[in-house]
Amino acid sequence: MTSMQEYIEKLRQRKAIAHGTAQDAEAQHKKGRLTARERIDLLFDPGTFEEIDTLVLPRYDVYPGGKRSRYGDGVVTGFGLINGRRAFVAAQDASVMGGSLGEMHANKIVKAMHMALKYGCPFIAINDSGGARIQEGVDSLGGYARIFDANCEASGVIPQLSLIMGPCAGGAVYSPALTDFIFMTENAYMFITGPEVVKAVMQEEVTQDQLGGGRVHAEESGVSHFLARDDQECLAMARELLSYLPLNNQDDPPYVRPVDDPERRCPELEEIVPVDPTKPYDVRQVISSILDDGRFFEVHALWAQNMVVGFGRLNGYVVGIVANQPMVLAGCIDIKASIKAAHFIRICDTYNVPIITLQDVPGFLPGTNQEYGGIIRNGARMIYAYSEAVVPKLMIILRKSYGGAYCVMSSKGLRGDLLYAWPNAELAVMGAAGAVNILYRNEVKNAPDPEAKRRELVEEYQERFNNPYVAAARGLIDDVIEPRDSRRVLIKALEVTLSKRERHVPRKHGISPS
Ligand code: HXC
Repeated sequence: MTSMQEYIEKLRQRKAIAHGTAQDAEAQHKKGRLTARERIDLLFDPGTFEEIDTLVLPRYDVYPGGKRSRYGDGVVTGFGLINGRRAFVAAQDASVMGGSLGEMHANKIVKAMHMALKYGCPFIAINDSGGARIQEGVDSLGGYARIFDANCEASGVIPQLSLIMGPCAGGAVYSPALTDFIFMTENAYMFITGPEVVKAVMQEEVTQDQLGGGRVHAEESGVSHFLARDDQECLAMARELLSYLPLNNQDDPPYVRPVDDPERRCPELEEIVPVDPTKPYDVRQVISSILDDGRFFEVHALWAQNMVVGFGRLNGYVVGIVANQPMVLAGCIDIKASIKAAHFIRICDTYNVPIITLQDVPGFLPGTNQEYGGIIRNGARMIYAYSEAVVPKLMIILRKSYGGAYCVMSSKGLRGDLLYAWPNAELAVMGAAGAVNILYRNEVKNAPDPEAKRRELVEEYQERFNNPYVAAARGLIDDVIEPRDSRRVLIKALEVTLSKRERHVPRKHGISPS
């Protein structure tokens, strides 16, 4: 009779096959990448990961041409703890048929996703794959479709993160694109069609990196939200992002007992933001000054830099920051900035993260590029997202708040909750010079000294209309505050609005502009 020890030994042999060889690991290391299991070890708290489906078998013992998959079929799935909180993962193993996706490989991913959804915890996909397993044909394609469907089903319920750490080509790119956040390492790449197809169809010579490298997607396309130097940094960033997100949409984001004083004044703000509305500054300094311990986790940091978004904490509560960046394009809203803000606002609303808007915006970026690119429908995305959001919406107007930009960013009309302005704020349909040119063209032209008349009228306009007091007089902002009180006031406002309950009229779903 077989002894228990022999049974155990046979199990161990099978699992050892699934784990691959030292040469497999070495091949991956040579590419400057970690293996699937090394990545998982860094993603989860030490010793907490439990693998499932280790012994799943591929569709064929031997593929045409003698190629073989092995136990596990090229993807490691399971669950564990990240910062002490539960999460599921699927990490593709590039050492098994290039990490290509066959039917059973897909089944494992879908199973892990369904579990994450059912048990209400985040799902992290680590992509490193040559795409659809060519030998499995439509079984493989069908697998992708089921993954896409699971992504859509889980959307807005559990956080979904995609970490691209190797190739991600063809239709394989659409699972990440359906998730909440994409991370890429510098030596990963994503594209719908590779350089060879591009050359054949478009007669365009382009390298993998130029076409879809990590940097391209972080800076040009905005497809990825985070760029990491290497696998280690990427996994650390994913852990940090999860520290700001709840396990699921029914949960609150994780509260951390604060060290930073909620009554702390921020006198430095009076220096950081120049009173002269034409002078640029870095709004990230304002954000750091206000948030707990100056910690700001920026999202989409390299794309559409005229809008800054990211997470931080106020008196221990997670908040999402949406801020114009006067240092880039004078903080104007353009197509990319609007898309970036809209996505982030929807993330915050989904995961019960209050939104704090820091406004200093001269308006929408003018020009044919913007109009032809559809600034109308794309700008509408941000309005839609602000209006749809039922989480607390707080705002400070730091300086400029002009025209359409005033309306579309968290205004009272969009059910902004508690809105503040600094005393230097300029809230008006347009700047004084532009307004005087339109309203008093003839008076200026016919004056004995037109330039003196123009200056006089600009000053008068500035005094009468272009300040925070007209809005304060109408209750369109809730108070004018001293810059140094910004943190203190925001914390008070946040704590009173945390119990906010607001619902929409029932509907299947809205139709967000796109
Ligand atoms: C089956 C594959 C494979 C695939 C790689 N392999 N991709 N096997 N199907 N899609 C196998 C190779 O045959 C090789 O097997 C092993 O994996 C390692 O591949 P290498 O090319 O030697 O490795 P490397 O040089 O690191 O290059 C990796 C790669 C390259 C960049 C991923 O293999 C590649 O370009 N693969 C094809 C990519 C692709 O076009 N995929 C289809 C996309 S279309 P051996 O046994 O020799 O080690 C798609 C449709 C999805 O995905 C549609 C969804 C809607």
